[in-house]
Amino acid sequence: MTTLVTGATGNTGRHVVTELVRRGERVRALTRDPAAAEGRFPAGVEVVAGTHTAPETLGAALDGVDRLHVTVTTGLAEVGPALVRRAVDAGVRRVTVVWGGAVGPVEQAVGDSGVEWTRLEPQEFMSNTLDWIESVRAEGVVREPYDTPSALIHEADIAAVAAVALLDDGHAGRAYPLTGPASLTTRERIAILSRASGRDIVLAPITHEQAVDRLMSKGVSRADAEYVVGWYAAPDDAATTVVDTVERVTGRPARTFAQWAAEHAERFQAPRVRR
Ligand SMILES: NC(=O)c1ccc[n+]([C@@H]2O[C@H](COP(=O)([O-])OP(=O)(O)OC[C@H]3O[C@@H](n4cnc5c(N)ncnc54)[C@H](OP(=O)(O)O)[C@@H]3O)[C@@H](O)[C@H]2O)c1
Repeated sequence: MTTLVTGATGNTGRHVVTELVRRGERVRALTRDPAAAEGRFPAGVEVVAGTHTAPETLGAALDGVDRLHVTVTTGLAEVGPALVRRAVDAGVRRVTVVWGGAVGPVEQAVGDSGVEWTRLEPQEFMSNTLDWIESVRAEGVVREPYDTPSALIHEADIAAVAAVALLDDGHAGRAYPLTGPASLTTRERIAILSRASGRDIVLAPITHEQAVDRLMSKGVSRADAEYVVGWYAAPDDAATTVVDTVERVTGRPARTFAQWAAEHAERFQAPRVRR
């Protein structure tokens, strides 16, 4: 059995690779840049060149593969159905998909494909906190417009659920809503990050429009930026209500934000001044 992991170098994908290897599986990690990915995966992982947003590049990557993990990234919605068709034609019989926040064309195509599929429906990833690194390192501040709650999930828990769904029976045709173990406001996250990194971090509020402009300056469309900032302005019940899916599926409690913060604390510390 061989699993192809798309998005393998990313926040969730790299944990999916590690978890499958830990469970003794043969894994192929897909990346657009195999040279850059060198040394980033456990021994035995086969790194293959290709992009999931260009399914025509996946001929060799899909050869002999019977399971597939898909992360819905930008650029995939248009070609996702073609990717799913190509995978099924190549012999893939089981697929996990990390949704893009809603059931779109890719999620629909996976559901209609006839293979055993499991849809992972995380709310906010803890790794979104990495966006704070620059301002925290430089000034000890987090600039966000809203102090609203979010039931953030650790990326490794998304991966742990994916691995169970890929390797064990009984998860086909299921959509799994996924959250972490607590719903935390922005200030509560900052307090946990302060403790983990050993430095004072404060919230410096910005306006809704400044937050939209910041995303647009990174290439996000106005519509998408408005959607994302609006999500924080008025998070819906799914975003703030803790569910126990991680524990039910994996048998282990979901990882806390304190654990995530401890794992990444060094990245938030002030740069050392050279003498
Ligand atoms: N962040 C959240 O709170 C959240 C919540 C719910 C759902 N999601 C979904 O999860 C996705 C992100 O997951 P993630 O953080 O694990 O992924 P990621 O780290 O953003 O990307 C995973 C990998 O996919 C490849 N990739 C990224 N964008 C691409 C593109 N446009 N075309 C081709 N390849 C691309 C890159 O690999 P290479 O460069 O190595 O090829 C990248 O390392 C989002 O797009 C969203 O749909 C996110």
